[in-house]
Amino acid sequence: MKVAPSILSADFGNLQRDVESICEAGCDFVHVDVMDGHFVPNLTIGPVVVASIAKCATKPLDIHLMVQNNTFFVELFAPLQPEYISFHIEEEKHPHRLIQKIRSYGIKAGIVLNPHTPPESVEFLLQDLDMVLLMSVNPGFGGQSFIETVLPKAARLNALRNKINPNCLIEVDGGVSDLNIQLLKDAGVDIVVAGNYVFKHKSKKEAIKSLQI
Ligand code: DX5
Ligand code: ZN
Repeated sequence: MKVAPSILSADFGNLQRDVESICEAGCDFVHVDVMDGHFVPNLTIGPVVVASIAKCATKPLDIHLMVQNNTFFVELFAPLQPEYISFHIEEEKHPHRLIQKIRSYGIKAGIVLNPHTPPESVEFLLQDLDMVLLMSVNPGFGGQSFIETVLPKAARLNALRNKINPNCLIEVDGGVSDLNIQLLKDAGVDIVVAGNYVFKHKSKKEAIKSLQI
């Protein structure tokens, strides 16, 4: 299991310190939550701050867009060359076109599903996707509780991707901790995002290790 700590739970007054500390603690990716105050009821950071994160991160960035106007935001963040850019299917009329656009920059493309969106909604996109990100909370805030229906959903998606595109990874985001990591692993999940669990733990290294099962 790979681990992508979410910098949404970092101390934004000490962002460089916190980004460096999760990288030194052995994380696999740095998860960056971009919110526009329209698609979700919260507002976070733009390309200026993310460029500073990219400068001090020694691990690749995993950008999670929670925005309207996905194409505009993809164009803003593509120059930073993250490993992944993922966008919500609920907010995109032309997901296939946007996947092609993200990949044209040499960036891996992901699609995010809200808790109510069925895994079959990406069936005909799977062969062109590098990742599907399943939300296990309602997007917008860190520190919410894990919605358990993501487990059968991940298992269904796992069966689909094994059939259509085994190279497409499954990521889960929201309320992840040592209490649900084994269940996520059993459901076929490859990467977890963890905000509060990593940043509130007495040792980030121990926290990350406990999820890398
Ligand atoms: C929620 C974000 C998550 C969040 C995870 O909208 O997408 O990445 O920061 O934080 P925790 O692990 O605290 O639920
Ligand atoms: Zn996220």
